[in-house]
Amino acid sequence: MKNMYNRRDTLKLSLLAGLGLSLDPMFGMLESEKKIHTRPIPKTGEALPIVGLGTWQTFDVGSSPEKHKVLSQVLSTLHSLGGTVIDSSPMYGSSERVVGDLTRELTFHNRLFYATKVWTSVKQAGIRQMDSSLSKMGRKQMDLMQIHNLVDWKTHVKTLKEWKEQGKIRYWGITHYVDSAHASLEHIMASEQPDFVQFNYSIRSRHAEKSLFETAKKHKVATLINQPYGGGSLFRLVKGKLLPPWAKEWDINSWGQYFLKFILSNPEVSCVIPGTSKPHHMLDNMGAGLGKIPDKTARNKMAAYLKTL
Ligand SMILES: NC(=O)c1ccc[n+]([C@@H]2O[C@H](COP(=O)([O-])OP(=O)(O)OC[C@H]3O[C@@H](n4cnc5c(N)ncnc54)[C@H](OP(=O)(O)O)[C@@H]3O)[C@@H](O)[C@H]2O)c1
Repeated sequence: MKNMYNRRDTLKLSLLAGLGLSLDPMFGMLESEKKIHTRPIPKTGEALPIVGLGTWQTFDVGSSPEKHKVLSQVLSTLHSLGGTVIDSSPMYGSSERVVGDLTRELTFHNRLFYATKVWTSVKQAGIRQMDSSLSKMGRKQMDLMQIHNLVDWKTHVKTLKEWKEQGKIRYWGITHYVDSAHASLEHIMASEQPDFVQFNYSIRSRHAEKSLFETAKKHKVATLINQPYGGGSLFRLVKGKLLPPWAKEWDINSWGQYFLKFILSNPEVSCVIPGTSKPHHMLDNMGAGLGKIPDKTARNKMAAYLKTL
């Protein structure tokens, strides 16, 4: 029988086998389907892999060597399947430092897309915090700096535009995680033209479909999706329930992939950033970036099916 894996796959397989993980979901996929999909950052055309990694709570582990070892495997899994985006914040305890310390050790750290945030008031405090984030994450230049939950955004927008001019950051953005802030995100997209907007969106939390995606498209703003699993609550909803048999038609092998592929079936999503502390969940999440992405009909079917459970 013809070997279905090429040399690159074999390398991935041996790496993942070393982590006790398998690439079963990829078995039988066409060569082109084994590569993570990318979408262009609207303002530059740079390709961004559509699944990344969030670090809220999951990377706030201080200096525990055992936890570092596992999180290092999470990062290797992200990279081995073509992911690059890592989202953090000074609000997430030790997460920025943990990301910096662990990625510094990895040969591929310069191929990652580092995103963090400014989360304080007053210009100088913002500058001090952002300098500290650069240092903790081991970067001379941050790929993306976002204003966390719009805290003192009018002040930080000015600094971020200056920093982008100076090359200290490549992109800047704004974030929030509640529906009631979507109108403000839209207002700022129109008035300030950020490169990125990050917000909450999931199969059970679809407020962003009202007009936020449309506004992002109009102003050529890339979208990062936080809380794609509703902070994990979606898994409680489907505990003990089977996937519908037709999920396989869309290369969906788990509930995690069902939830992420629903999000990714919206073409206005640039990248989804589920948080995880576990290599096998990272592998599962990356699977959502591979293979077929549901079309509009399938997307409606997915939402309707969930309501029957
Ligand atoms: N205002 C903001 O800017 C803002 C607000 C919220 C979030 N965020 C960002 O968005 C990221 C994602 O949001 P979130 O972490 O709050 O929530 P989430 O991604 O919706 O859910 C994370 C939870 O899902 C679990 N999980 C992940 N992958 C899984 C899988 N394949 N199967 C089963 N369980 C899985 C994780 O536990 P395990 O560790 O066990 O995998 C974790 O408990 C954050 O980490 C953060 O970077 C930003």
